[in-house]
Amino acid sequence: MSFAVFKSIGAYVPEKILSNEELEKIVDTSDEWILKRTGIKERRIAADGELTSDLALKASIKAIERAKINKEDIDLIVFATITPDFLCMPSTACILADKLGIKNVAAFDISAACSGFIYGLSVAKAYIESGMKKTVLVVGAETLSRIVDYTDRTTCVLFGDGAGAAIITASESRENAILDIHTSADGGYWDFLVTPLAPKGVEGGICGSHIKMKGNETFKLAVKTLASDCVNMLKANNMESSAIDYFIPHQANYRIIKAVGESVGLPDEKVVLTVGKYGNTSAASIPMAINEMYETGKLKKGHLMLLDAFGGGLTWGSCLSYFDCE
Ligand code: UT7
Repeated sequence: MSFAVFKSIGAYVPEKILSNEELEKIVDTSDEWILKRTGIKERRIAADGELTSDLALKASIKAIERAKINKEDIDLIVFATITPDFLCMPSTACILADKLGIKNVAAFDISAACSGFIYGLSVAKAYIESGMKKTVLVVGAETLSRIVDYTDRTTCVLFGDGAGAAIITASESRENAILDIHTSADGGYWDFLVTPLAPKGVEGGICGSHIKMKGNETFKLAVKTLASDCVNMLKANNMESSAIDYFIPHQANYRIIKAVGESVGLPDEKVVLTVGKYGNTSAASIPMAINEMYETGKLKKGHLMLLDAFGGGLTWGSCLSYFDCE
């Protein structure tokens, strides 16, 4: 049997920074409110013409280099995004394959909003464990600034742009492998987070939509669901929270992250927070946070990570995995 190993990580963020102070000039908000309610100080914004696949390409190149593989070794690209380059087709995974210069590879997008990266890891793990693929590039990348309504203060202060990518490889040994992944959804809450398309007949077609969110309801459900998901993940693997080196959750709001960390019994130094610098980058937030820990030298080969995410759908998921990058 093959095991799936989290072999490397890479990330990229656009250069342009949008600060809370700049948002104060656009909508009726304040640095104090944003910081107190979300923990966000600033977020990155893609340049005009910079697409989700452009950010993903830079993150993927780093992940490929760090995994010490040839790009031709990749036999599957799984791309999690809610801001694809094109509507419906082609997939952003295919655009990325072209930009990477890989000709013969399976490639598709998945739509699981902020849980997309964990869903992507579960797809990679299943393909590898079944023996169908050996080297999978899992990407979470977003240009959310394209679908944010900068007149809506309840959403525009939250979201940012960025990309993260990981190489997952097959191994004969369970040592340092991805131990377990749990994914789930409850479509009964579909209307908590939506980007409605314009109805048929509207000039300009169905695009031009914006994120709308029932923020407070989503917040409460996120804390409850994520806390029980993480506890169940540890229980299912006969592990205590003390075994975890880093808890690396989706970066939506520091209050959600703190509450979940406390419920699971994790001390602050094990709880990774990057939301202050990048805001909520949906599918990109977990791989970006893993990358931050790696590049600052804190996350090392052999460390055990607990990942978790919650997002539109509603979807959620958690992952217990060793990190195997030198
Ligand atoms: O990533 C996918 C999953 N997403 C999430 O998990 C996001 C979950 N939700 C949240 O993080 C929080 O609910 C928010 C940060 C979005 C909002 O925080 P909250 O503490 O739930 O605030 P609220 O929506 O209950 O609003 C409280 C007040 C309202 O005013 P009133 O009705 O009390 O007078 C809002 O109008 O804050 C007001 N408000 C703002 N004030 C200044 C909302 N947005 C802003 C703003 N600046 N940007």
